[in-house]
Amino acid sequence: MQIRQTSQQFNFDKYPNFDRDIDPKQRAWIEVNGEAIEKNVRQLRSQLSKSCQFMAVVKADGYGHDAKVVSEYAIRGGASELGVATLKEGIKLRSFGVNKPILVLGNLYTKKDLIIACRNDLMPTISSLRECLICNNIGKQFGLKFSLHLKVDTGMSRLGFESDKFIQEFEKIKSFENISIEGIYSHLSSADEANAIDSQSITQLQRLKFYELLKQINLDRNNEIKIHLANSAGMLLSNDFHFHMVRVGLSMYGYSPLDKIDKNLLLKPALSLKVKVAFIRNIDKGVSVSYGGKFVSHRKTKLAVLSIGYADGVPRILSGKIKVIHNNKFYPQVGSITMDQMMVDITDSNEIKVGSTMLLLGSDGDKTISPLEWARKSNTIPWEILCSFKNRLPKVQVD
Ligand SMILES: Cc1ncc(COP(=O)(O)O)c(C=O)c1O
Repeated sequence: MQIRQTSQQFNFDKYPNFDRDIDPKQRAWIEVNGEAIEKNVRQLRSQLSKSCQFMAVVKADGYGHDAKVVSEYAIRGGASELGVATLKEGIKLRSFGVNKPILVLGNLYTKKDLIIACRNDLMPTISSLRECLICNNIGKQFGLKFSLHLKVDTGMSRLGFESDKFIQEFEKIKSFENISIEGIYSHLSSADEANAIDSQSITQLQRLKFYELLKQINLDRNNEIKIHLANSAGMLLSNDFHFHMVRVGLSMYGYSPLDKIDKNLLLKPALSLKVKVAFIRNIDKGVSVSYGGKFVSHRKTKLAVLSIGYADGVPRILSGKIKVIHNNKFYPQVGSITMDQMMVDITDSNEIKVGSTMLLLGSDGDKTISPLEWARKSNTIPWEILCSFKNRLPKVQVD
């Protein structure tokens, strides 16, 4: 087979790169309101004691909002630490100039990755003696104390030392000279369940296990180690979960994981999902719309074709179940959501035109569509909805 040189196939000079000229609002985009993040952090912090710190969880590109914007505004609102899932996410924040402590919540287990973490001033989550030893060796190699957080499993069965083992091994870990234990933490698996407040719930048992473990390792009162357990749901549930720091994601973005929260806590969603009308067509009664002909018009219908689909992160399972908003009015989405487009019945509107902007998520006047609603309708959780948005949706900051 003859392989032709790329340069013979493509004439790069003939097609200059106009990418920069494309309006980010040309097709579909996410709008991020940084001030909403800042206000949410302030409000959430007002529920904590003065000494309790707030870690803003900005993993998965700030839950799909843009980690850079979220970090900046969360810090303005008083977040003192940031949480990411991966080494790359942490390095990216450092490259933006973020200088707050950053905890990598995912596991780093090779010497190479832990060295990269150390050199970028990222604190790893440590779940075993083996990982502690690697960190201690790295500290020795670079002549420093490698800062890290120890994680214990209290019922999530994901990362973390088994609690009995942790109690046995803690004295040894404390004696390592080239690590600095900045925190000890655990993670709640079920704090957003309706029964979380009940004394025998998984959440309360996790809390008791964590307390017991802390008692057993006998930390002296003057130690600087930060103890932390709560995610958003744990934080909102009760201050019994607050300890020295809370690690908050979902509620900082404006959504409560609990059905009932303090009515004075007014969280404002920071994200809107918007799309342009790319085409308008009129169809007769009895005409099928989109793949599979799942929707057939029951009257003469005006359809708007919106430039967004499941390849942008709108779950296809929501086909025919969602609405969009234009000028404070709802319009139903009809037919199967396709990879790049979806159709909306705009028969009742005279004002929607090609190029009009429609709102898929967010608020307009007194109308709101929330990721919580999409999650309910697609049998998933709001976290997944927010993290599903793809890179081809530009993120635009608005205040
Ligand atoms: C270890 C850890 N802490 C905190 C959080 C934040 O959780 P939430 O978004 O429910 O506040 C997460 C998110 O999944 C997590 O994995």
